Amino acid sequence: MIGLNTSEAGTVKPASPSSLTSQKWLTLSGKIWFIIAAIGQAIFTFYIIGLYGVATATGDWERWNTTMPHGYVAGDAPGNVSIVMHVLLAAVVSIGGPLQIIPQVRKRFPKFHRINGRIYIMSGVTISLTGIFLLWTRGTVGGLIGAISTSINGLLIIAFSVSTIKYAWTKKMAIHRRWSLRLFMVMSGVWFFRVGLMFWLLVWGRPVGFDYQTFTGPFLVILGFSQYLLPLLLLEIYFAVKKAKRNTTQWVFGTVLMFFALATALGIFGATMSMWIPRVF
Ligand code: HEM
Repeated sequence: MIGLNTSEAGTVKPASPSSLTSQKWLTLSGKIWFIIAAIGQAIFTFYIIGLYGVATATGDWERWNTTMPHGYVAGDAPGNVSIVMHVLLAAVVSIGGPLQIIPQVRKRFPKFHRINGRIYIMSGVTISLTGIFLLWTRGTVGGLIGAISTSINGLLIIAFSVSTIKYAWTKKMAIHRRWSLRLFMVMSGVWFFRVGLMFWLLVWGRPVGFDYQTFTGPFLVILGFSQYLLPLLLLEIYFAVKKAKRNTTQWVFGTVLMFFALATALGIFGATMSMWIPRVF
């Protein structure tokens, strides 16, 4: 989705001028979506540092409970250490992930790409393990199904991290890039959840399909699984459409991606204005 050359064998068929245009449209829509997502993740990073980073630096542990029902729990050292590691590393992956994807950064600063990649993967695995631990020891809003869908997200992060590293070590770079994009999508799952929720609230102007007080309902169940399944599905379609080089399909899917870019921008706007900025200041 990011406008990378995903051709595995490096075989690029000569394209007619019109198919070039559809190819460009597809690449452009992927790039626009990515730029919007990168900005949104930078704002999310600002929120994490502004709320939790400052709270940790000043020893203001009560502030950890501003938004979470189980942030700081007196006497629960393993849980408290896990949530602090989890959330602070969330800032690392939210800023490091997009940097890892940008082709210019990768080409111009290969050493940074390697170091940042290791940090990204180690942080992602730690976030997943601490997240699963917290879900099943402390519970969370969303109940059992929420815990199951988010745990699957954590397991996918670990599995995709293994594949991403494996193909980097075996120097199969085209396959490595594909796995790194899949990893980026699942690593962004909980971010997609927040953005998707705010998009939904903006569209309807009120909670539809869920109860705001108990934070349960069919919409949240669907969102809990869609937070990683939908981006993964779109990414796989993007790979296939880019490779197949069929004009109409590229035009149509490029347009679909533009709509998703717009929806992502709206969701980021909603999350920034109603959650991330007010909670920092
Ligand atoms: C790599 C992606 C992830 C990021 C960026 C992330 C980020 C965050 C943030 C910022 C919070 C604090 C809540 C808030 O202020 O919004 C949080 C809480 C939490 N996260 Fe994650 N997270 C990620 C992945 C996961 C995974 C994979 C799991 C579980 C398998 C998980 C489970 C939890 C739990 C249980 C909480 C505490 C929520 C509560 O007590 O209500 N997270 N996460």
